[in-house]
Amino acid sequence: MTKTIFITGASSGLGRATTQLFAERGWTVLAGVRAGSESASQLSNLAGVKLLSLDVTQPEQIARAADEALAYGPVDLVFANAGYALGGPLEVASDDQIARQIETNLLGPIRTVKAFLPRLREQGHGGFLVTASTAGYVGMPLISLYAATKFGLVGWAESLAYELPEGLFIKLIVPGSMKTNFLHAADRSSHPAYADLTAKTDAFYAVASDSAEDGRPDIVAEEVWKAATDGKRQVAYFVTEEARQTCAARETLGAEGFRAQIRQMLGL
Ligand SMILES: NC(=O)c1ccc[n+]([C@@H]2O[C@H](COP(=O)([O-])OP(=O)(O)OC[C@H]3O[C@@H](n4cnc5c(N)ncnc54)[C@H](OP(=O)(O)O)[C@@H]3O)[C@@H](O)[C@H]2O)c1
Repeated sequence: MTKTIFITGASSGLGRATTQLFAERGWTVLAGVRAGSESASQLSNLAGVKLLSLDVTQPEQIARAADEALAYGPVDLVFANAGYALGGPLEVASDDQIARQIETNLLGPIRTVKAFLPRLREQGHGGFLVTASTAGYVGMPLISLYAATKFGLVGWAESLAYELPEGLFIKLIVPGSMKTNFLHAADRSSHPAYADLTAKTDAFYAVASDSAEDGRPDIVAEEVWKAATDGKRQVAYFVTEEARQTCAARETLGAEGFRAQIRQMLGL
């Protein structure tokens, strides 16, 4: 029987690559996309892909998309992937910007998983995959709100992994720097009082991005496939060497040692 995956943020980047890979391998892909997304319309030409309208900041849209998805039949996997970065100093972020970041990146996955959980529990098998980030394991300057959402996802998923009934799993996909629309889509603000920190941070990221591996989204899609099909209890899947090394450095150096190293590298 054909298997089915439901994906949020399927219009672009990692979600799009995952949609393509699972469709190529014979799965039915229920692709959650925001209404009016032009890039998403081409996805519906792929065999096995059905588009569902979904803005994850809208709880009623999540509930409706889950009902529509489950009306097609059993859903084997749910990939809560939609997200974006809010960058810049905390003091210039408006309450709306803060709320939208949390609604999208943290409450979006939580509500999506909750919407599918009862049916997956009843069917006795299935999995949840969530796109985390190295920013869910290490704090960095000027992305405090993005990090808050990704740290939140890591703690939530690690906790939920104990709670899920036999036959169900939740796993975190942890990419390093990937070449997607992510930087372009970021909501970024600035303030003159933080100009020096911003310049140092930008320079640090420019070097990191130059030395980053090939950030092809299909590498993440392959990792999603592996996490979905390897039958392991493992929760976190670090996709690139950069992601593995960054998170391992914090383990090795300890939180304070790691922060000291970051301060030194940024000249803070
Ligand atoms: N790229 C990286 O370096 C990187 C690294 C670590 C983690 N991540 C994480 O990877 C995930 C995917 O990002 P990406 O790199 O693939 O970036 P992307 O190319 O910008 O794709 C983001 C996707 O999320 C969707 N999205 C954003 N807000 C949404 C909302 N309110 N409701 C529904 N969909 C929404 C976008 O839809 P639209 O097309 O409608 O905007 C798009 O499909 C995110 O969770 C991000 O935090 C990315």
